[in-house]
Amino acid sequence: AYIVRQRMKSSGKWARAMAIVKEFEEKCGTPELKLKQVADAMTVEMHAGLASEGGSKLKMLISYVDNLPTGDEEGVFYALDLGGTNFRVLRVQLGGKEVGIVHQEFAEASIPPALMSQTSDALFDFIAEKLANFVAEEEQRFQQPPGRQRELGFTFSFPVMQTSINSGSLIRWTKGFSIDDAVGQDVVAELTKALQRKGVEMRVGALVNDTIGTLAGGRYTNKDVAVAVILGTGTNAAYVERAQAIPKWHGPLPRSGEMVINMEWGNFRSSHLPLTEYDHALDVESLNPGEQIFEKIISGMYLGEILRRVLLKMAEEAAFFGDEVPAKLKIPFILRTPEMSAMHHDTSSDLRVVGNKLKDILEICNTSLKTRRVVVELCNIVATRGARLAAAGVLGVLKKMGRDTLREGGPQKTVIAMDGGLYEHYTEYSKCLENTLRELLGEEAASSIVVEHSNDGSGIGAALLAASHSLYLEENS
Ligand code: GLC
Repeated sequence: AYIVRQRMKSSGKWARAMAIVKEFEEKCGTPELKLKQVADAMTVEMHAGLASEGGSKLKMLISYVDNLPTGDEEGVFYALDLGGTNFRVLRVQLGGKEVGIVHQEFAEASIPPALMSQTSDALFDFIAEKLANFVAEEEQRFQQPPGRQRELGFTFSFPVMQTSINSGSLIRWTKGFSIDDAVGQDVVAELTKALQRKGVEMRVGALVNDTIGTLAGGRYTNKDVAVAVILGTGTNAAYVERAQAIPKWHGPLPRSGEMVINMEWGNFRSSHLPLTEYDHALDVESLNPGEQIFEKIISGMYLGEILRRVLLKMAEEAAFFGDEVPAKLKIPFILRTPEMSAMHHDTSSDLRVVGNKLKDILEICNTSLKTRRVVVELCNIVATRGARLAAAGVLGVLKKMGRDTLREGGPQKTVIAMDGGLYEHYTEYSKCLENTLRELLGEEAASSIVVEHSNDGSGIGAALLAASHSLYLEENS
């Protein structure tokens, strides 16, 4: 009788756990109709954000980039890329049309977590220091003649209100950064001061978001690139807009007739988004409650954390990992998206990788195969929702550009340059995104849309924009 009672008790718990999974799955549902509503809402918000400053949750920031690289750029240029967990310094040597990139070299460092919430000076000193080392170790052939400054493109991947191609103030932090005294400051001025403190001779020729850098880097090698999407720690998109379709732009009409827009789509939100209790709790407890809602359900910083929250609820309410709730499971952000991805991609018959991750990260030992299967299923639910919503976002942008259907006069090819660790490393996610985009566009329209991985295009793009700006200054001085 005891054993029977125990069995009934444990099967009751299992049923309870499965009910939690089922409810989560239902709430995360992204049927095609819903995705189309999300895409339409995105298009509507794009119009509103372009109409007036503050007209929408979508900031639709003007980048001051009205000319994209042509391939003619020549010389040695530098880039500094700050935006997520890592930060890089890069040098590229450009050889002009026939030659392209002659040489490139970079150094990478991770940002010490403490620096993400201290002072502006501390962060910029750290960056300037790395740049100083990079330049100090440089070969003779890259040394500049005395009196000539190095040109630097600064990729700063946070929302910035630009005042020119190489100045702009930080609107607010995203992605876990929270350095209060930097908000509202001109980030180029902050960087320039730090460079002076460290004795580095450099001029910041361009300040760009990573999406803008990726668009520029993509265009350098492929003239059909018209959209860039980042799926990494955070998420965002940029695209080429007609200057005349930007009512809030009161500056001179660019000669090209175009202006690149940094959407800051991470801050998109709509009643059509499938949000769950876990998303609400994550948002409320985050550094930026109420903000970056789209980002919080689709980008790399958050996917693992959503998974952790669901597992914790199952542990607490259905003893999913035994009678005691594993202590580690209570620690926010302990389960990172790369680990979730590794579990999701586990192809071993006994789901060994899942077992090991649960053990190593959460100290949950001896999980059954059945339990591991459920964990994989949860990874799938979280990743699928994110990827499908990202695809809906892309559809929204294509719609705004009038490139979601085949036009008269033959197909106009549109290339979307994508980058970011999530897109690059989480295969199930990127596969799902691309399939969903095809599903939403329909086979015919999909045939003229190409998604291309732009490997670290954002740094090169920033260097290219610094190059073309310096060319412009020389020609006009
Ligand atoms: C965040 C930032 C945005 C950036 C994106 C991807 O959403 O606010 O500027 O482009 O992350 O790095």
